[in-house]
Amino acid sequence: MTIRHFLRDDDLSPGEQAEVLELAAAMKKDRFGYRPFEGPRTVAVLFDKPSARTRISFHTGIGELGGLPLVVDNVSVLMGRGEPTADLARVLDRQVAAIVWRTSGQELIDEMAAHSRVPVVNALTDGFHPCQILADLQTVHERMGRTAGLTLTYLGDGANNMAHSYLLGGATAGLHVRIAAPAGYQPDAVVFEQAAAIAAETGGSVVALSDPVAAARGAHVIATDTWVSMGQEGKEARVAALMPYQVNDELLGHAAPDAIVLHCLPAYRGNEITEEVLEGPRSVVWDQAENRLHAQKALLHWLATHADPDRAPEAA
Ligand code: CP
Ligand code: NVA
Repeated sequence: MTIRHFLRDDDLSPGEQAEVLELAAAMKKDRFGYRPFEGPRTVAVLFDKPSARTRISFHTGIGELGGLPLVVDNVSVLMGRGEPTADLARVLDRQVAAIVWRTSGQELIDEMAAHSRVPVVNALTDGFHPCQILADLQTVHERMGRTAGLTLTYLGDGANNMAHSYLLGGATAGLHVRIAAPAGYQPDAVVFEQAAAIAAETGGSVVALSDPVAAARGAHVIATDTWVSMGQEGKEARVAALMPYQVNDELLGHAAPDAIVLHCLPAYRGNEITEEVLEGPRSVVWDQAENRLHAQKALLHWLATHADPDRAPEAA
């Protein structure tokens, strides 16, 4: 059987993303009723960077799917001798049912996928965090009863993995995605254009703004993320540049009256979000963190049961 990977948000078409999210909702209601990895099959979950939510939710979820998680927190244990990613892919794919990887460069996970005969899932790269956006979309749907047509405003570092995944994944879901960021923190132009092309198909839209108040005005969903992503330097300059984009009560006052607030966590209170907002009635961050479990279980289940001949790996 040929295989599918999830390396970026747009690896799922709008219809496929909807299927995964529907499955996620069903699996949340029947948490132990789906066992695609019964056997048990092993699923590798590899980390080159720190993680709490991703590690916990994949470990838990793979177990609930009847599988055995092989969690490796320090990939240098596997790859510290200069071995190419392609070689690790071909060692892993003969033994495991899927490979989940948190790493830095998108090209690394692309290389893993190019040489793997089992699905490869991006558990965060510098470029994208697509599993998080699935959980976020599930959370928005639970709270608002729909996703398509809603306005989601993301404020802060518009050039990071979360911003890029909101653009691609949000456009795929038919959201109107607004990115509010200052000069120097705007989204990658190529990713932005790719998101715009998807939005043109789904009825959504994407826009990049520098005015945080204009961006928040009337939004149904307000989202933010750390101003200093893993591996980034220059914290003081970043905090100074991004402070006008803080999600606080005043900013929230410009959003829709029933707006919800997302943060993928970990949160830095007093920087990108205030304590009052994070712990306040609009915040849905704990549901959002829980939904990592359901959304990723659905994704793994979907990938385990779907094939696309156009995406056959080179190795046979
Ligand atoms: N949101 C998220 O991915 O959390 P971790 O970095 O703790 O996995
Ligand atoms: N942008 C953040 C997301 C953490 C889940 C980072 O890459 O550190």
